[in-house]
Amino acid sequence: MVDTESRNAAAYGVDGGVGATALLVAAARALETHREDSLVRDVHAEHFVRAAVASAGWPVRPHQVPDVDTDPLWGRFARYFGLRTRVLDDHLLRSVREGARQVVLFGAGLDSRAFRLDWPEDRVLFELDREGVLEFKHRVLAGAPATPRVTRVPVPIDLRADWEGALTGAGFDPSVPTAWLAEGLLFYLPPAAERQLVDAVDRLSARGSTLAYEVKLEKDLRAYRDSALYTATREQIGIDLLDLFNGEPRPDSVGDLAGRGWSTVVRTPFDFTRRYGRGPLPEPNDALEGNRWVFADKPAGS
Ligand SMILES: C[S@@+](CC[C@H](N)C(=O)[O-])C[C@H]1O[C@@H](n2cnc3c(N)ncnc32)[C@H](O)[C@@H]1O
Repeated sequence: MVDTESRNAAAYGVDGGVGATALLVAAARALETHREDSLVRDVHAEHFVRAAVASAGWPVRPHQVPDVDTDPLWGRFARYFGLRTRVLDDHLLRSVREGARQVVLFGAGLDSRAFRLDWPEDRVLFELDREGVLEFKHRVLAGAPATPRVTRVPVPIDLRADWEGALTGAGFDPSVPTAWLAEGLLFYLPPAAERQLVDAVDRLSARGSTLAYEVKLEKDLRAYRDSALYTATREQIGIDLLDLFNGEPRPDSVGDLAGRGWSTVVRTPFDFTRRYGRGPLPEPNDALEGNRWVFADKPAGS
């Protein structure tokens, strides 16, 4: 039986609650790293998976999963995260090459982009997540040979609260262009927090800034409760994503950004599967059907 103290500790860090979803994505990146046709190489991911109680027994190599290609969780869903990581790696690198001076990762989780990617000089990367998640990350990275390739600034914060002061207090500079990213985050937040995030991003963005984020379009997320992805995630590793998602009606953030003068492009993950030649394709009763990756630009010089 799990006592209250352990439950609170779990909710605080990565061993339970929404923090555990960061481990799920890390395990996916570990697996992706060792695929023959991998889209991403993340040597840090498996250390996170091994270090947490909740995930110590999860696979980190494809050969540890029987019939990995047909496994809904460690095959298709993990591949989805591998593709998402790669697409957003490429997007962030493009943004900084085209002028963004700083990068802000909302719900950074166990993202290791600060250590993996080839950043131009003099960039700053802020990682915002809950304190317990960033503490776990710090502990694991401190025990591994990990050197950031950019100025990395962790900002422990609950994104349902006002995070602007914490970000600016950590050295964020609103006068230079920023590449913002909310990857695998917004569906956990209440709609008011998403509205506040878009509003703050717009106010804190110099011209030439970019924002990429992931949303789910389904009106009722429970429609996919018995999909292979959600069922496997619940049954194989005990993470009930639908319980963790915020089920309230979502704001129209694309419309909001467009109304504020941002240009927006909305893509499905399947668009990128076709472009990169690897990744998930649509299937019946598909929990990925409503997923959209949104890319927004605040035009420079207008
Ligand atoms: C699915 S993980 C994605 C992590 C990372 N972006 C990635 O793709 O590897 C979701 C992350 O959002 C964070 N998160 C969820 N709700 C949050 C909140 N209210 N405040 C701060 N972080 C939050 C979780 O702690 C977790 O690290």
